[in-house]
Amino acid sequence: MSILFEPKAIGNLVFKNRFIKSSTAESMAGPNGEVTPPLLEFYEAIARGGAACIFLGHAFVHPLGRAHSKMTGIHEDRLIAGLKDLADIIHCHECSVFVQLNHGGSRVQEGLVEAVGPSAVPHPLTGARARELSSSEIWEIVDSFGRAATRAREAGLDGVLIHGGHGYLASLFASPLTNRRSDEWGDRSRFLEEVYRSIRAAVGSDFPIGVKLGVKDDAEGGLPVEEGASVAAILAKAGIDAIEVSGGIPTKEAGAGRRDILSRGQEAYFLPYAKAVRPRVGQLPLSLVGGLRSPRLMEEIVTAGWADFVSLARPFICEPDLVTKIQAGRWDPVSCTSCERCRSGFAQEGLRCRRDEEPPT
Ligand SMILES: Cc1cc2nc3c(=O)[nH]c(=O)nc-3n(C[C@H](O)[C@H](O)[C@H](O)COP(=O)(O)O)c2cc1C
Repeated sequence: MSILFEPKAIGNLVFKNRFIKSSTAESMAGPNGEVTPPLLEFYEAIARGGAACIFLGHAFVHPLGRAHSKMTGIHEDRLIAGLKDLADIIHCHECSVFVQLNHGGSRVQEGLVEAVGPSAVPHPLTGARARELSSSEIWEIVDSFGRAATRAREAGLDGVLIHGGHGYLASLFASPLTNRRSDEWGDRSRFLEEVYRSIRAAVGSDFPIGVKLGVKDDAEGGLPVEEGASVAAILAKAGIDAIEVSGGIPTKEAGAGRRDILSRGQEAYFLPYAKAVRPRVGQLPLSLVGGLRSPRLMEEIVTAGWADFVSLARPFICEPDLVTKIQAGRWDPVSCTSCERCRSGFAQEGLRCRRDEEPPT
């Protein structure tokens, strides 16, 4: 049997195989962030299709941290019932589910909420200038991560994943480009550490907490990989249960996170980050995300120990049953062509695979 189908635990939760559905914002929530029937349908197909765990798309922990409209919310107790429906439907298929906790910072839809950040600088991707948060506002946000995690646990979800990458608030704190503070929050790993502590204090020691970590910024002068690996080591020491290895602040020049995957050589583009993180965190469960398409390459990465899990995002949007197919012996690369059409228009119409649709004119 391939190592990809051997069970492996995160904290005390055993995953039946090594395939994780990585977070993708769905833009399918109700006006106040409620879970809706299309969300249940979207995730049931992936759970049924054999993934060991689904990391739900980012959910806002604070009313002012909403990155875009139709984003799922976890900032109020009345949202727990819908999240419970989601947990129940996913659990029917022996699949685990974590929600991704996020605050948009200054990577937020214009006109929706105020762009805020550690320092009053333009966002390297969007150009939006942040208002500098006060220390008491930062503590309020830190606390809101803990309260959101309590709701996740109450809803019956299996764990939470802190969003620590992609130019949202936590990665703005981690980056030398966007954190110019000279107070206690100028220690750039501090925000993530405090968010982790707030969640751990809220949910106790037996509830898995992971982080999707932006190990390196795309932007010139941004977070370097050695420093990102040090942040991973700090979080591992603090007690985090798993790290999903990803990128930090994207830039327009680097394609805003967009990367075409047309050959095996373009796959696994964050593998160098996992190689930098692994020696700093011992046996801590790592998952690698970013352009994974060939099951043989995934197997090599897990066998070599660079990661324990593989996280896939876009491939599950077009092929929710890809794990079942691989298990049945289809070892060709998954069918996602990374055309990125799932990303275009999803904010208005909700997330779905659009590769067979005419590109928007
Ligand atoms: C439409 C879309 C929405 C995304 N939303 C999120 C998100 O909410 N949280 C997150 O951490 N990453 C998000 N991502 C990034 C993916 O999780 C993943 O890191 C990236 O797509 C690379 O993996 P892939 O090549 O398997 O798609 C999103 C990606 C896409 C295409």
